Amino acid sequence: MDDVDYRELKGGKNLVSRISIAPMVDITDRHFRYFCRLLTKKSMLYTEMITSSAIIHGDRNKLLDFDPFEKPVALQIAGCDKKEIAEAVKIAEDWDYDEINLNVGCPSDRVSGNQMGAALMAYPELVAEIVQAIRSATKKPVSVKHRIGIDGTNILPGSLSKVVFDKYEDLEYFVKTLFQAGIKHFIIHARIAVLEGLSTKENREIPPLRYEDVYRIKEAFPDLFIEINGGIRTIDSIKEHLRYVDGVMLGRVAYENPFILTKVDQFAEGGKVNNVSRREIIERLIDYVHQFGVDKRTGHQALKNVLGLFHNKRGSRLWRQLLTPPWQEGIYAKDVLEKALRILPEEVLDEKQEET
Ligand SMILES: Cc1cc2nc3c(=O)[nH]c(=O)nc-3n(C[C@H](O)[C@H](O)[C@H](O)COP(=O)(O)O)c2cc1C
Repeated sequence: MDDVDYRELKGGKNLVSRISIAPMVDITDRHFRYFCRLLTKKSMLYTEMITSSAIIHGDRNKLLDFDPFEKPVALQIAGCDKKEIAEAVKIAEDWDYDEINLNVGCPSDRVSGNQMGAALMAYPELVAEIVQAIRSATKKPVSVKHRIGIDGTNILPGSLSKVVFDKYEDLEYFVKTLFQAGIKHFIIHARIAVLEGLSTKENREIPPLRYEDVYRIKEAFPDLFIEINGGIRTIDSIKEHLRYVDGVMLGRVAYENPFILTKVDQFAEGGKVNNVSRREIIERLIDYVHQFGVDKRTGHQALKNVLGLFHNKRGSRLWRQLLTPPWQEGIYAKDVLEKALRILPEEVLDEKQEET
């Protein structure tokens, strides 16, 4: 294998596991990624999904800038036009992301109605052309995030037939086609996407999880790096999945219960539990938000996804109340965090994770 070390193989099995934090629109912005990096040193952090046309026509600095402290960071791109995607990837080269990821998993109408996201799964050859275009635009590792299948309407122009692409064999064909196009790293959300009748949110909850299909893919393609995603919320379940696949991608748990991220580095090469307390995290956040000074909007933005830090702990409600706007006149992000350190329960502030 030619690209990055975690794909090193021995006897058809990847030696090194990886944990990543999923791309999530409105969540995994640079502020949230900075926060995640305080909790986990080793995990790969994904951007929100960014469309190729936004990169080409939008405010690039706003969309692509990140703090080097967040690294390693993967850029997730959505699109369906291979030329446009390749152009966007070339533009992003200047930002030095660590990986480029193609979104083939988003069920949103806005995205799939435009032949993007999960709808593309029914057209493996088209996706293969897209990834080839990406690979020729960058030397960075390229990965694909997709579902185990889709149930939806044919999106190709002029055709109204229903597309059902939801059998294990369909998934295997999809992976094989992309493997032939040079992709070695697959992140598989273990649910199908239902493109009609279910909302984006329902599509993360209602289609049943079929982890076995993802395990079978690893068995069928032992040399590929297979990362599993969907409904994984505990350290024990991460351990269990890593018996079968190479990596685990965590989504909602990262903002619902972020303190769990202090435990995930133990699964990465040379990694161990991050022995950091909530107090230390908040102190680092104080330094971070200091730069926003009296810019309340950015201050709110920087703290809006850290509300779960006290999940299931004493002080959880108080923490949420303190952080939730509106803040009093003359009170800014830094003041809010300093107040939290003064009034939240000491034993929760000073708790550290232990090796499990
Ligand atoms: C608020 C939110 C936004 C999301 N945005 C994206 C996205 O931009 N790109 C993507 O591939 N998946 C997106 N997802 C899906 C997640 O990456 C992940 O696949 C899904 O939440 C399942 O993992 P989980 O059960 O660990 O949350 C989003 C999920 C959530 C909750």
